Amino acid sequence: MTDNSTWYRDAIFYELYVRAFRDDNRDGHGDLRGLLSKLDYLQWLGIDCIWLLPIYPSPLKDDGYDIADYYDIHPDYGTLEDFKALVKGVHERGMRLIVDLVMNHTSDQHPWFVESRSSKDSPMRDFYVWSPTNTRYAQARVIFVDTEESNWAYDERTGEYYWHRFYSSQPDLNYDNPKVQQAMLDVIRFWLELGVDGFRADAVPYLFEREGTNCESLPETHEYLKRVRRFIDENFPGRILLAEANQWPEDVLAYFGDGDEFHMAFHFPLMPRLFMALALHDRTPIVNVLAKTPSLPDETQWCIFLRNHDELTLEMVSEEEREFMWSYYAPDPRMRLNLGIRRRLAPLLDNDRRKIELLNSLLFTLPGSPIIYYGDEIGMGDNISLPDRNGVRTPMQWSAGKNAGFSEADELYAPVNDDEVYGYRKVNVDAQRDDPGSLLNWTRHIIRVRKSLPALARGTIRLVDVGDEAVLAFWREVADQKVLTLHNLADSEREVSLDLSDLGGAEVKDEVSGQGIGVAVADFKAHLPPYGYLWLSFSDGGVG
Ligand code: GLC
Repeated sequence: MTDNSTWYRDAIFYELYVRAFRDDNRDGHGDLRGLLSKLDYLQWLGIDCIWLLPIYPSPLKDDGYDIADYYDIHPDYGTLEDFKALVKGVHERGMRLIVDLVMNHTSDQHPWFVESRSSKDSPMRDFYVWSPTNTRYAQARVIFVDTEESNWAYDERTGEYYWHRFYSSQPDLNYDNPKVQQAMLDVIRFWLELGVDGFRADAVPYLFEREGTNCESLPETHEYLKRVRRFIDENFPGRILLAEANQWPEDVLAYFGDGDEFHMAFHFPLMPRLFMALALHDRTPIVNVLAKTPSLPDETQWCIFLRNHDELTLEMVSEEEREFMWSYYAPDPRMRLNLGIRRRLAPLLDNDRRKIELLNSLLFTLPGSPIIYYGDEIGMGDNISLPDRNGVRTPMQWSAGKNAGFSEADELYAPVNDDEVYGYRKVNVDAQRDDPGSLLNWTRHIIRVRKSLPALARGTIRLVDVGDEAVLAFWREVADQKVLTLHNLADSEREVSLDLSDLGGAEVKDEVSGQGIGVAVADFKAHLPPYGYLWLSFSDGGVG
């Protein structure tokens, strides 16, 4: 592990679901010891930081995003001792670990809520948001539109309603209560003391509610998040906060503050536009969203992704764009969920290796630290017959052996994917590790190349119009290095001409293939096969 305090700007992230990764104790559920046994794999792949979905005790109405105890590990996953061993194992391999921090809500089985709902006079009543009516905060949207009609749920015992932005089994904490604010800081301290390198902070826009607003991203919310940041900086410097704020880029900007709030935030609006540009063979959706993406305060960074554990969210697109995305990428209604698409990367891209590489190439070259969703590095498929988002949370496919090498148990938390195209007999880590041409080895290669080019991690971005709307071209530049990337979004060959006379005849190399492809001249011709991409570097870094 380097001491570099802005390590997250160079890091390759990997998101994983412990339950799905590797079962060590043979109960059919992945666990921390199982993950520990697979750390060598992640290190081999080139991962720098692992993000774990929630690992806390939970009734699992929302796969652990409904926390019943912030201070322990779900028994399916192991113990706090196992967690300590995991942290040690991660750090020994020079990697880092961040965990999900669900601040906005708890499970309705959390003792705080059990106590809070027990009576109107409960000393914990004010830990949650209660109201005699269900009419307050009417401007707040419902997020889980397929299952919830309202953000209020009626509680029989006390005859009042409680506020919840997600499932009704996930009551929102009341951040107007200073005790709640302190309680969450205590939770944060606990996990940082255990050695985690930071948090992926869940659903942060919704911490406070105010009448007459949409109850998202309120000033009070930012004020509290800044307090969390101060606490971390003062006590645990170098640890990070990554925001899940599914908002427009200009609204996400506020989550970076003046460099005094989050270190990182996911770039939600970019993601669907990568898919859209590919479907349309047109760079415009990407160009437009980049134009709307403000530059960030120093030392902060976007986290960019293609897929994650949720539906591919279409909240940050227009209605027309959403209809297009649904009809193109989710023709079967079972592929749709809430305002999104519950499919994995490879099936979304017709298992077309060229398209998978192209979108990954964008992931590894656009500004931000890339995050890979477990299984996408081998092209795993999904299972749309499973409910909710479970279809993209099936067991990791390690081998062609029993249960895909995930578990020796006879019954699993979810079926392994066994279909013809994406099933574990065909798609698994073992087979791909042995095959130099596999997606897995390609991913490993691209990670190495990315790490050898600091401009891709920290550089500015400058778009170039190459006169062909199917080709997205941009420079990434730091003081001593320039990299030019070209992406052909079309299924036909393209040749573009670039004026590289500024580079005074430098030698041009495609970093991905490692091949020299000529010298930088005024009429430099770049050939791109269908869905092809080039990462061009220049002798002397391109800076003379
Ligand atoms: C976030 C998580 C999602 C969860 C929700 C409620 O959006 O990514 O999985 O259901 O928060 O906690």
